[in-house]
Amino acid sequence: MLLSLLLRRRRHHHHHQHHLLSVRLLLLHHQCKPLSTLTISLSHPTYIIWSSNTSLGKTLVSTGLSSSFLLSPSSSNAKKLLYLKPLQTGFPSDSDSRFLFQKLSSLSLRRNLPLLSSHSVLLSSLPAAKSFKPNEFSVTESQEMCELGFYEESKVLEEGRVVPELVSETLYAWEGALSPHLAAEREGGAVGDCEVVKKVERRLREGLLEGGVERGRLDGFCVLETAGGVASPGPSGTLQCDLYRPLRFPGVLVGDGRLGGISGTISAYESLKLRGYDVVAIVIEDHGLVNETPLMSYLHNRVPVLVLPPIPQDPSNNLMEWFDESRNVFNSLKDIMLEAYLERMQRLNEMPRRAGDVFWWPFTQHKFVPSCTVAVIDSRCGENFSVYKVQNKEVITQQFDACASWWTQGPDATLQTELARDMGYAAARFGHVMFPENVYEPALECAELLLDGVGKGWASRVYFSDNGSTAIEIALKMAFRKFISDHGNFLELLKNNSAERCIELMVLALKGSYHGDTLGAMEAQAPSSYTGFLQQPWYTGRGLFLDPPTVFMNNGKWTLSLPEVFYSEMLKLEDITFRSRDEIFLKNRDKSTLAGLYSSYLSQHLSQYSGLSGIKQIGALIIEPVIQGAGGMHMVDPLFQRMLVNECRHCRIPVIFDEVFTGFWRLGVEAAAELLSCVPDIACFAKVMTGGIIPLAVTLATDAVFDSFIGDSKLTALLHGHSYTAHAMGCTAAAKSIKWFKDPMTNLNITSEKSQKMLLRELWDAELVQQISSHPSVSRVVTLGTLFALELQADGSNAGYASLYASSLLEMLREDGIYTRPLGNVIYFMCGPCTSPQICTQQLIKLYRRLEEFTQVKRETKIN
Ligand SMILES: *[C@@H]1O[C@H](CO)[C@@H](O)[C@H](O)[C@H]1NC(C)=O
Ligand SMILES: *[C@@H]1O[C@H](CO)[C@@H](O)[C@H](O)[C@H]1NC(C)=O
Ligand SMILES: *[C@@H]1O[C@H](CO)[C@@H](O)[C@H](O)[C@H]1NC(C)=O
Ligand SMILES: *[C@@H]1O[C@H](CO)[C@@H](O)[C@H](O)[C@H]1NC(C)=O
Repeated sequence: MLLSLLLRRRRHHHHHQHHLLSVRLLLLHHQCKPLSTLTISLSHPTYIIWSSNTSLGKTLVSTGLSSSFLLSPSSSNAKKLLYLKPLQTGFPSDSDSRFLFQKLSSLSLRRNLPLLSSHSVLLSSLPAAKSFKPNEFSVTESQEMCELGFYEESKVLEEGRVVPELVSETLYAWEGALSPHLAAEREGGAVGDCEVVKKVERRLREGLLEGGVERGRLDGFCVLETAGGVASPGPSGTLQCDLYRPLRFPGVLVGDGRLGGISGTISAYESLKLRGYDVVAIVIEDHGLVNETPLMSYLHNRVPVLVLPPIPQDPSNNLMEWFDESRNVFNSLKDIMLEAYLERMQRLNEMPRRAGDVFWWPFTQHKFVPSCTVAVIDSRCGENFSVYKVQNKEVITQQFDACASWWTQGPDATLQTELARDMGYAAARFGHVMFPENVYEPALECAELLLDGVGKGWASRVYFSDNGSTAIEIALKMAFRKFISDHGNFLELLKNNSAERCIELMVLALKGSYHGDTLGAMEAQAPSSYTGFLQQPWYTGRGLFLDPPTVFMNNGKWTLSLPEVFYSEMLKLEDITFRSRDEIFLKNRDKSTLAGLYSSYLSQHLSQYSGLSGIKQIGALIIEPVIQGAGGMHMVDPLFQRMLVNECRHCRIPVIFDEVFTGFWRLGVEAAAELLSCVPDIACFAKVMTGGIIPLAVTLATDAVFDSFIGDSKLTALLHGHSYTAHAMGCTAAAKSIKWFKDPMTNLNITSEKSQKMLLRELWDAELVQQISSHPSVSRVVTLGTLFALELQADGSNAGYASLYASSLLEMLREDGIYTRPLGNVIYFMCGPCTSPQICTQQLIKLYRRLEEFTQVKRETKIN
């Protein structure tokens, strides 16, 4: 399908032939099917049946529920229920889908109510297939499972009535009566997690539609029954509560009414809650122990607990009487489930409007946000949002969080689960506790990890705060104090009270930088869209702001863009073009002509402010190493930043690295300082440091900086603090994430090169990046670590932060399952340190296709 699409396009505009051809080749090379993102229909309820252990009657509950839904005398509509058993072991002697099919057929006869029912088993391991249908099954080439294609049907019909319908299906079956992971291993019938989830999604989508009847909201119902307990492994070994997590269906928990069952039921319930599942009801069998009372008390009556009559143990009992006896319980259960579904739908539908009424969104012109464009994020799983959408139907669909939720996100689905559990633990152990002059484990572990990681080789103190902006303000306070104590004659001046307020300490910073939204942090940035009188009337801009040289890729080549002041006849072409990105970071550039130009420019500027000639003094250098984020994802020439640091060292001006955005593998190394091959005196970290799960920021400092606050009076201490300083949950999350991201066992993208330096593997496909950089609509591309950014060719009002030029492209990308927010005409994709390169490649392929469309539309509107 993709191929024909591309070929068709080629006929339309010949001048792009070469791009299309090569993208096509790349697509083949990557064997990348045009990806359909996971989409779940909400036009009818879908529930997952969990259990706290095996053999507690999940299938009886599914059966009772199905009979209650399908076999009610009053029903006049064409109801249809789809029952899925994704994983069945002990097959063919055990088959829950067959049990349900047979019982429902019998019940419809017994109750004299019509029912059309079918049963099928789709795939099984070879041993299971052999013992089930020795002569007819087909072994598929691509998978280890055989296509069984088994199907049977039963009809109880009645003249002149619409007939309700049951579709009962097993997706994968193994012969051993074992946990699926063991059965799969022993029978050579492996199935990956993605495959199971995709198959479930597809069967749910197709299962209810087959027969062509468009059903009303409550005329369809899907039930997905798990195997064993909540945390029983699936075929790959992944726990089922993790395996089905991308789908996040609401659930019913079949609990345990036996002795010891309270504990098991609560544990199962908590495992589900801790993974972000909703549980609408708990069902237990009556064993005469009244387990429901302590369960309801634990749940504060917020989740109903239903009790089923004792289940007959005699295998010859056909359970018909038991189902009759349980009818009321199953009717209540069904009503609870339908009601919960309707309530959820109402919430989902109303949320955009209610949000538009009460929220004041940051960086948002509310006039541009009609409530229909508000995205309802139902949940997150790893890098993806699950977004509620109403197109022609109501669905939940996955969108890749390409802005990494304002650059904070990093975890894949596994780390997300780990962090959720650790957060629960930390909250339960500490809540929040007082920090000054105290110590607790998470804070200490976090501080030591920081000093042994991003602060290694230079920092010896960790100061905790709660967000990047405040970490910057603390850094400024630290730097200025250090500056004052380094310039002793200054102190003399300060003793003269009248002079104290006359001396203005400024920062040395770069144009296009951004260090946070608080008033002090804003003083450290050059005038920008954020600093105008309307935005920030107190802004004065206390800095010397230099125009930095930047580097980017265009037409497949890394190129340097120099501000006019550096134009010189001495520069040759090889000074401003690079054969590879690595070349830009080479230390031997320090000896180049350009280094000389940078250095003399900088020392000339600095000399204007050094000494005590003026009231204005440069008291700190503050830079975002390598990439300026909010300023438009500009890559500053690392040579220039290194020269800046060197010059400031020379003048004893403290150096601050703002690594709030760049830190923790964003740029492919743990701290971006590594890319500059130099260290700061003070550095700020936040955002992805905690895996994006909770806010926390730190300011790291050298001993020398710390020492400038030591004295005989409290008044020389750093008098600054935050209510949530060294928050136990934040420190716990940071400690886990820091370790996780850099451990090759948990982050497969980490490589240890010969130099023993740990690096992140290249995540963005080099060829695709080159092609995008050669696209006529693209003026520059920057890729580094988890970041891919491009600037759209735009002029006049289409350029800059206020530009809406990119919005149509972004809309198209959202249709493709990519959620992005632009910085004016700059678009970026940001993945996590653990994101698989395949996912990144898919995003780039989608982007390229949409760029083609976008360019075409812009061209047509220009002609008209
Ligand atoms: C996120 O979505 C992509 C498709 O866009 C999919 O390949 C990936 O497996 C999803 N990740 C998770 C954790 O569900
Ligand atoms: C950062 O923290 C400060 C102080 O706690 C607060 O005033 C500010 O709003 C926070 N900023 C952000 C972006 O969260
Ligand atoms: C202190 O201030 C006074 C004016 O108030 C000025 O005359 C004097 O020179 C200052 N001393 C120093 C050391 O600058
Ligand atoms: C990167 O990590 C992801 C998940 O951690 C993994 O699937 C992928 O294979 C890794 N990439 C490489 C090239 O090892």
